Amino acid sequence: MENIRNFCIISHIDHGKSTLADRFLELTGTVSKEKMRTQYLDMMDLEREKGITIKMQPVRMEYTLNNKVYSLNLIDTPGHVDFSYEVSRSLAATEGVILLVDATKGIQAQTLANLEMANKQNLAIIPVVNKIDLPQARVEETKKEIAGLLGVPENDIFAVSAKTGANVEQILEMVIEKIPSPSGSPEKNLRALIFDSKYDSFKGIIAYLRVIDGGIFAGDKIYLIQSESSGEVKEIGFFNPQLKPSKELRAGEIGYLATGIKESSKVRVGDTLIKVSSFLKTEQFRSGLGKIQTSRTDALPGYKEPKAVVFASIYPENPDDFDLLKESLAKLKLNDASFSFEMETKEALGRGFRCGFLGSLHAEIISERLSREFGLKLIISTPSVVFKIINQKNQEIQIYSVREFPEPGEIKESKEPWVKLEVITPSEYLGKILELLNNLEGRQTETKYFGSDKVFLTYETPLREIIVGFYDNLKGVSRGFASMNYEMMGYKPVELVKLEILIAGQKEEAFSRIVSSKEAFREGKKIVKKLKKLLPPQLFSVSLQAVVSGKIIARETISARRKDVTAPLYGGDYTRKRKLLEKQKKGKKKLKEKGRVEIPSRIFLEMFKG
Ligand code: GTP
Repeated sequence: MENIRNFCIISHIDHGKSTLADRFLELTGTVSKEKMRTQYLDMMDLEREKGITIKMQPVRMEYTLNNKVYSLNLIDTPGHVDFSYEVSRSLAATEGVILLVDATKGIQAQTLANLEMANKQNLAIIPVVNKIDLPQARVEETKKEIAGLLGVPENDIFAVSAKTGANVEQILEMVIEKIPSPSGSPEKNLRALIFDSKYDSFKGIIAYLRVIDGGIFAGDKIYLIQSESSGEVKEIGFFNPQLKPSKELRAGEIGYLATGIKESSKVRVGDTLIKVSSFLKTEQFRSGLGKIQTSRTDALPGYKEPKAVVFASIYPENPDDFDLLKESLAKLKLNDASFSFEMETKEALGRGFRCGFLGSLHAEIISERLSREFGLKLIISTPSVVFKIINQKNQEIQIYSVREFPEPGEIKESKEPWVKLEVITPSEYLGKILELLNNLEGRQTETKYFGSDKVFLTYETPLREIIVGFYDNLKGVSRGFASMNYEMMGYKPVELVKLEILIAGQKEEAFSRIVSSKEAFREGKKIVKKLKKLLPPQLFSVSLQAVVSGKIIARETISARRKDVTAPLYGGDYTRKRKLLEKQKKGKKKLKEKGRVEIPSRIFLEMFKG
């Protein structure tokens, strides 16, 4: 065990984690030169196309230092805030981290958030400045920022180029020197932490493990404490980074095993895996029902499940695909424990799921993965927050859709989620960023300067203000230099209203929304404008109205489509022409009175997507 090191690379998005991992893979000969490609550990096509890491990826490498061969288990992690659950799970499987900071950007919001997570788990930290090859690199300033943050001398901070490989080998040596070897016991009974899992169409459910105590072999009978399910090790091995079968996994090691368990809900991240034989010898016993009882002390602490912050509905384009969607969501959840799903039905769309996500990028990625990995065609709504209402009977109701919204008289109090938003920016963009932030409802709570020209701003704001579009705007006004992070603060009172949409005087339930009274005007305007663009013109003019409590707050009109009724006539028979036009006018009036506009289903879909 003393030759094992388990570590992660953590950083803000794009600071070079996967590129640094590439150099490690080369230096250790884990991936041959011919097979090497950039950001090798970003194994999903989606990751490669988007240029971001979505999934953690473990890999085992061998490295010789002073004639001793070390087994280095690296986990590459994502940087985007929506995937922070991947980071926290990876950290729990390791003893140390490389904290990477881009020398052209300096410390950014996720640098702080990830560092905080690593500190909470008492991990060893190796600070590294990256991208020193770039002409705009500000190596000394970045070192100063990090030294200030960690309270270490600037000399302790490494400066490398993950791209060219400059100074990278020193970091591997540092990993061996500074990161402690794992502390479990090979003699004790097996206890292993499941930190990730996935569905493999050949091998079934695969659990990613960090073995804490004991060892495990292929063929062993296993038991999962939390889910109370048992299985058998069909295959065991480590990450090469592809799955590489081996004979066993021992205390301190990171690897995988094919569980032989069929139902995806039974293999959960954070669960503790033990061997049936080993614990039968201890104080546990098989109950009469064949269920295995374990004492609490066996279970590892596991993970705190993340709470979904935004919700979106996902429906199959073809209603016959509902069962396939259900099955696919369950399989995908094995590989991404941070989203949740619950069945719902909608009149215009049939059966689908209301899904909870950690952010809107997360929602986008899940729907992309469903389409790519399971061949599903989907309709996904704009992500939104969950409101809470206290009714006159003092019951708290969660509001996901208009249908659940009570009559105004029944509402005693309504609330919405708020977040603490942190923004870090170079001071030259401060003016523009303040402009953007001041447009949010909420208030600024803190402004701090650090390093030579960095500003750290803290805001409190409703979550709905930042889930769609805010991140892009922040990047836009700061040429990509500002960064943000947020955490939930809880619910605060808000005045909620039902925004109703009338088309030619008829209420169209499917377009109604629950909004804060403050944003009702803006939203109402947006909806009628969009409808005006989408709805095909009728033979009569059609009014589009956004209404709150019976008051029209926004209005648009779609002009009538002119049908040239006089076309069949040629020549100048004016009376005949006038007669036809008169007739058309009367017909239009009749139509208007009847007033029903046929709304093609694609328009419901477009509006649903937001
Ligand atoms: P996420 O996992 O999505 O957070 O990104 P990451 O931290 O893994 O960053 P990645 O390795 O994907 O690199 C982001 C970009 O920075 C890529 O275009 C890399 O080529 C570039 N990059 C990384 N390291 C260096 C470096 O040392 N020098 C230069 N010039 N570019 C680098």
